[in-house]
Amino acid sequence: MARTRVTVAVVSFSPSSIIDSIIEATVVPSFTSIGPGARRRLFGWESLESYDLTGQTVVITGGTSGIGEEGSGILARLGANVVIVARNQVKAEATVDRIKAETGNPAVSFVLADLGKQDNVRRAAAELADRYNTIHTLIHNAGALFNERRRAESGADLAVELKVAAPFLLTGLLLPQLRNADPGRVLIMSSGGMYTQPLSVSQLDMPDEDYHGAVQYARAKRAQVVLNEMWAQRIGAEEVVFHALHPGWVDTPGVSDALPGFSKVLGPLHLLRDPRAGADTMVWLAADDRALETSGEFWHDRKVRSTHKLPTTKASDTPERRQRLWEWCEAHTGWSLHESPTAP
Ligand SMILES: NC(=O)c1ccc[n+]([C@@H]2O[C@H](COP(=O)([O-])OP(=O)(O)OC[C@H]3O[C@@H](n4cnc5c(N)ncnc54)[C@H](OP(=O)(O)O)[C@@H]3O)[C@@H](O)[C@H]2O)c1
Repeated sequence: MARTRVTVAVVSFSPSSIIDSIIEATVVPSFTSIGPGARRRLFGWESLESYDLTGQTVVITGGTSGIGEEGSGILARLGANVVIVARNQVKAEATVDRIKAETGNPAVSFVLADLGKQDNVRRAAAELADRYNTIHTLIHNAGALFNERRRAESGADLAVELKVAAPFLLTGLLLPQLRNADPGRVLIMSSGGMYTQPLSVSQLDMPDEDYHGAVQYARAKRAQVVLNEMWAQRIGAEEVVFHALHPGWVDTPGVSDALPGFSKVLGPLHLLRDPRAGADTMVWLAADDRALETSGEFWHDRKVRSTHKLPTTKASDTPERRQRLWEWCEAHTGWSLHESPTAP
């Protein structure tokens, strides 16, 4: 039976923490490039380059573009054995070659999988399990916002399949390798957009007639954060720690393709974060021991943040809906924690 770790929140009234709370409460400065600029100075952030990940295997999805590509390069520079899960072989080869050349780290490779296809997820998990007895960190970073409705092979909305079902299945299948890291780390890249959406299981996959890409995206991102907490309740932190995070608003191909207006307005004002700032907390959670002190938290700019900003979304987040979400994931992917060979 997994042990439950009790986290005691320490409320700090230092001037830095008060300024940080004001930035967080006002959303726009927090999510834009202002956030990391201010917080780096307020809290004297350690440079990512001060960490050494030699001997650690880090698996990251969506490492061929944007935040994931930048993060993969930083992780390689820190000496990690970086494995990118990618859907496009040509792009994956080019990314791996470039990162190896730029960092001098030969331990960068890829595994092919279209995460919208569950047979691909299962094949990638089998390949990873075959190659690595131990996986220290699994980062679920891949994701996309589709302005037009797209469906996965399973029939689910593609954004939900990519962000909810695929991470659930991949985590479940790789639990033995993560446990071998003693403890392993699972990180999931959510979005601040999830603050706008309630937890909905019956409407997780929006009806066609109501489809709105940004809303569908935010619902899947809300589900990611809830599942992160549920994994942490089910698996002891001494075995695997789970953390969700959001990167703020980052200048990436994903944003310029899906939200061109957003890029057009914020880009010239230099308010979008660069990919390095977008990847900062993700890499930091993979490297810093503070990530091992708790499990099931939601992070932004190296600090634990609230998962709700609106009373309506808080009211939606009931134990019954949570249970239904977990059951939906198990039924949809065919992977069940209690039937897994390593059930607690
Ligand atoms: N940028 C932001 O402001 C922002 C804000 C909040 C949250 N996020 C989240 O951060 C993560 C990274 O976003 P980004 O902005 O860096 O996006 P991006 O530049 O579009 O990169 C997305 C990555 O996901 C991969 N991917 C997409 N569909 C896939 C599939 N079916 N199978 C396998 N891989 C797939 C892409 O592969 P290809 O290279 O083959 O396309 C790419 O490597 C996402 O989860 C996103 O929701 C971003």
